Order: sequence, then structure tokens, then C-alpha cells
Amino acid sequence: MKSLGFYVQYWRSFFALGACLVAPSAPAAPVCGAPGKPACPWQGYMRTRLATALAHRDFRELERRLAEVAKRNPEPTKWHNWNKFALDGAQAAHEGRLRGVVAACARCHAIYRPEHNVKYRERKLPE
Ligand code: HEC
Repeated sequence: MKSLGFYVQYWRSFFALGACLVAPSAPAAPVCGAPGKPACPWQGYMRTRLATALAHRDFRELERRLAEVAKRNPEPTKWHNWNKFALDGAQAAHEGRLRGVVAACARCHAIYRPEHNVKYRERKLPE
């Protein structure tokens, strides 16, 4: 005859296993920005507004959109360089300096995109 402890252990592991099967173990699937999903809000905005304006060398539109990007800083009290990069880019667009515009895109992408995408990827664009 097995000891009572054995049966208690046995049932414990049985329920533990059951709990694992019911508990959601995998992280929730992304709702956007993955294959087969629509673009995420910022991603769509970047593609249709910023990248399109850049492709057309539309400096007026670039100036306007980069100023808009500055206003839409997701962490305005912390991400000061977000505004700096965007507004430097807007200024470069105003002066018709393509290199300055592209530098602004690249700086923000290098410094802020990773953190943005961890924290705010699925969030709607701030107005
Ligand atoms: C101040 C910040 C900032 C500036 C300036 C900026 N971007 Fe972005 N951009 C982002 C962020 C954040 C993302 C990530 C969005 C996402 O993946 O959800 C992004 C993503 C993109 C993407 C990727 C979309 C994809 O397919 O994944 C493109 C294209 C893009 N930006 C174009 C531009 C261009 C062109 C400029 C300059 C004219 C520019 N961006 C300037 C913040 C910025």
C-alpha cells in the first residue's frame, strides 16, 4: 500500500498539469504589423505620409508631416530628442535639404523606434 503522501503528490501534479493546459501560455498574437495583419498605426502613417513624401521629394509635405510627428511624441516629457529630430528634419525640409531630412528619419528610427515598438506599437496615433 502506498503512503498517503504519494497520492497527494500524484493528484497535485495532475492538477498542476491541468492548470498548465488551461492557462494561456503563449503571449497574445500581435493584432498588427505581422504577416497577414494590417499595418500598425504608426507604421501605416509612416509609410503613407512620410515615406511617400520622401519618395516624391515633396519638401512642403515633409515639413508639415515632420512637424506633426513632433506633436505626436508618445512620451513628450521624456523623449526630448524625438521632438528635436523631427523638428530638425522639418527645418531641413523647409530649406530643401534632402540629407538633413533623411538624417532626421534615421536618427529617430535608431534611437526611438525600438522602444516605441515595445511600448506603443498597437496604440492609436495620439491626435
Ligand atoms: C521622431 C520619430 C520619427 C521620425 C522623425 C521619423 N520616423 Fe519613421 N518611424 C518612427 C517609428 C516610431 C516607427 C515604427 C512604427 C511601427 O513599426 O509601428 C517608424 C517607422 C517607419 C517606417 C517603417 C514602416 C514599416 O514598414 O515597418 C518607415 C518607412 C518610416 N518610418 C519612414 C520615415 C521617413 C521617410 C521619415 C523621414 C522623412 C521618418 N520615418 C521619420 C518614428 C519616426
